[in-house]
Amino acid sequence: MKILKSVSVAALLLFMVSCGGKTSQASYDVIPAPAEVTVEATASPFVITSSTPVVYTPGDSVMERQARFLAEYVQEQSGIELKLQPGEPVKGAVVLSADLVSDNSEAYELDVTADGVSINGASPAGVFYGIQTLRKSIPVEDVAKIELPAVKISDAPRFGYRGAHFDVARHFFPADSVKEFIDMLALHNINRMHWHLTDDQGWRVEIKSRPGLTEATMKVPNEPGSMQMPVPGFYTQDELRDVVAYAAERHIEIVPEIDLPGHMLAALAAYPELGCTGGPYEVWGSAGVMTDVLCVGNEETYRFLDDVFGELVEIFPSALFHIGGDECPRDRWKECAKCQAMATKLGFKNDSHGTREAKLQNHMMHHVAKYLEERGRRVIGWDEVLDSDFAENAVVMSWRGEQGGIEGARRGHDVIMTPSTHLYFDFYQSPDQSSEPKAIGGYTPVEKVYNYEPVPAVLTPDEQKHILGVQANLWTEYIPSFKQVQYMELPRIAALSEIQWTDPSKKNLEGFVGRLPRMLDIYTDHGWRYADHVFNVHGTVTPDKEARALKVELSTYDDAPVHYTLDGTEPTRESALYTEPLVINEPITLRAAAERGEGMGRIYEGGVQFSKSTFRPVTLSAAPHPRYTFGGAEQLVDGCLGSHGYTDELWLGFTVPEFDLTIDFEEPDTISAVDVRTNVSTGSWIFEARKIEVATSLDGKTFTNVASLELPAMTEDAAYVKEHRLSFDPTEARYVRVTVDSETSMPEWHAGSGRQAFVFVDEVSVY
Ligand code: ACM
Ligand code: ZN
Repeated sequence: MKILKSVSVAALLLFMVSCGGKTSQASYDVIPAPAEVTVEATASPFVITSSTPVVYTPGDSVMERQARFLAEYVQEQSGIELKLQPGEPVKGAVVLSADLVSDNSEAYELDVTADGVSINGASPAGVFYGIQTLRKSIPVEDVAKIELPAVKISDAPRFGYRGAHFDVARHFFPADSVKEFIDMLALHNINRMHWHLTDDQGWRVEIKSRPGLTEATMKVPNEPGSMQMPVPGFYTQDELRDVVAYAAERHIEIVPEIDLPGHMLAALAAYPELGCTGGPYEVWGSAGVMTDVLCVGNEETYRFLDDVFGELVEIFPSALFHIGGDECPRDRWKECAKCQAMATKLGFKNDSHGTREAKLQNHMMHHVAKYLEERGRRVIGWDEVLDSDFAENAVVMSWRGEQGGIEGARRGHDVIMTPSTHLYFDFYQSPDQSSEPKAIGGYTPVEKVYNYEPVPAVLTPDEQKHILGVQANLWTEYIPSFKQVQYMELPRIAALSEIQWTDPSKKNLEGFVGRLPRMLDIYTDHGWRYADHVFNVHGTVTPDKEARALKVELSTYDDAPVHYTLDGTEPTRESALYTEPLVINEPITLRAAAERGEGMGRIYEGGVQFSKSTFRPVTLSAAPHPRYTFGGAEQLVDGCLGSHGYTDELWLGFTVPEFDLTIDFEEPDTISAVDVRTNVSTGSWIFEARKIEVATSLDGKTFTNVASLELPAMTEDAAYVKEHRLSFDPTEARYVRVTVDSETSMPEWHAGSGRQAFVFVDEVSVY
């Protein structure tokens, strides 16, 4: 009886607790990592509930908006509805204020004590970033209470320009998607959206004095969401103003780009008289660089540009305007009487300040720069503007690596770093391109983005001050849907945000990956698609030729437990737990996966293969291409398998019609199969082999063919890794010779038509 009674009291207590609702725990391990976080572990926490008010100065509409943002975020993530309360600070509230004294206008302090939360910014933008930090501290979980540990956070960004570029010219994304893109940026403390509005494949801004621009773009075929280019679509001036205001509320300035004098076919399609040949021209349907560009010798082109920018300055209040300047072939100008007359009139000659045509390009860009400067704006140009002297006050955007940025800073220009090597988010995120949405090429995983340092050490401290900031670019030739935009951005943009915001001394890849799951929950809460390769198991295979064994090290960035199997079966939580490097000295199939929460992550298919040929002496009949030789022939039998990325230095690349590899087992053995792996990437002129043959010998002199495989000519673009197995009756042999015939004449449909293709091989295994 007594026991029963106490049970019922416990049940009652339990009931009361559940009535009180669930409590979640905040954590200040956010992205980007703040400058200083001091958690007061022994102090009492503050608890947010639905009766917690958000206090701000009455009548201050900007601060009221900040309060509303905070309430919305908390509601979205936890279900708790905070009350907005204009008035004096009170105990038990979240108090917003913007009177922090700091050199950095975007700085904020976030203080949590048992009595409440205070977010004080050096400006409303600072308050906004404090709110973002608070919001990112809160788990995505429906609860009645959120417990915030006592803390003092003092934070400010490293760079004033923290950009993300969005190309809406190649594929068009309606204003609602652009607003969602802006929401993504806001979550990552990004304060500039570089909006690439025009290109060969579309003109996306309404220009009332030049209606033909958008009319031509609206006439193209309509297959929204497909890979098809061009696609119709443009923004009215009202829509543009609405997006500008939406961004401004989130402390994001929109930097519009009109790309000139190249990348202008969509404009030429409407106004062919602006091109050197007079056309006709079409809004373009493929990716690439077009020869037809604006005629720089035609006075009408300058009036056209004045009209366009005259309307844009009324729509975009931004201090910075991007006027392009990239990838502008100058061929037409060499042939055009008007362009040549202009160059002669201006006295342009080839000299140390640039070619005659480079000067023509900058003549046009100077014209626009001056027009905008007179209206209080400053221009940005892609790094090609350094081909000749550009407007002194102009900002250089370094995209062809860092060299343009280095050169620009040395010449006294301010610079924004956005090198394609690290910050082009249209590149693949995984070396396994066959399981990714088709992308333009490249390989830029999150960790590569994260480890980018935007201030080149080769610059002097004074030159380094010219680096205003850093940005990632999203070109959309291969991105037809907004879901794919999300996938290409997330979570690379989280890595970007930490380059932009956080002092390098506070950066740490392992820590970043550990903080990422919180962010992923917020992405999921918004329905945003993201890539998760950063959680993959990584394997490092080190051959030990002396011991005839392979050492395999497995790891994850966040030190998640890794389980593996050696028999090819799927790893589960019950499979062997990885604790130390594996030593492989017999044929096995390694598969591994990390355990996180309930599930197992993506399976790592070991980069290791042990066979009768592993570590045996080998000779090649022809040298690989010098750029793809690396460790030479031995690498084809070292047990380390090339990954899906052909540039991983494990694949040997050949540009000869035929080569053979001879393997010596050092004593006779019985063999019955040979595996030859090839890596195909036709976009990089790497084709499948056309024929593989296997011959065996006992004396190394007389070889007998035992297997042959013919492969058809390729009929379309492809990127894959394939293991070709050649089986034969068990044969006694000391030597095996594998002959590979390559594609000697690339097919007509390919840009390299008629020329010798590459063939990439790794590895050759004998069983
Ligand atoms: C560029 O990627 N063409 C700037
Ligand atoms: Zn011309």
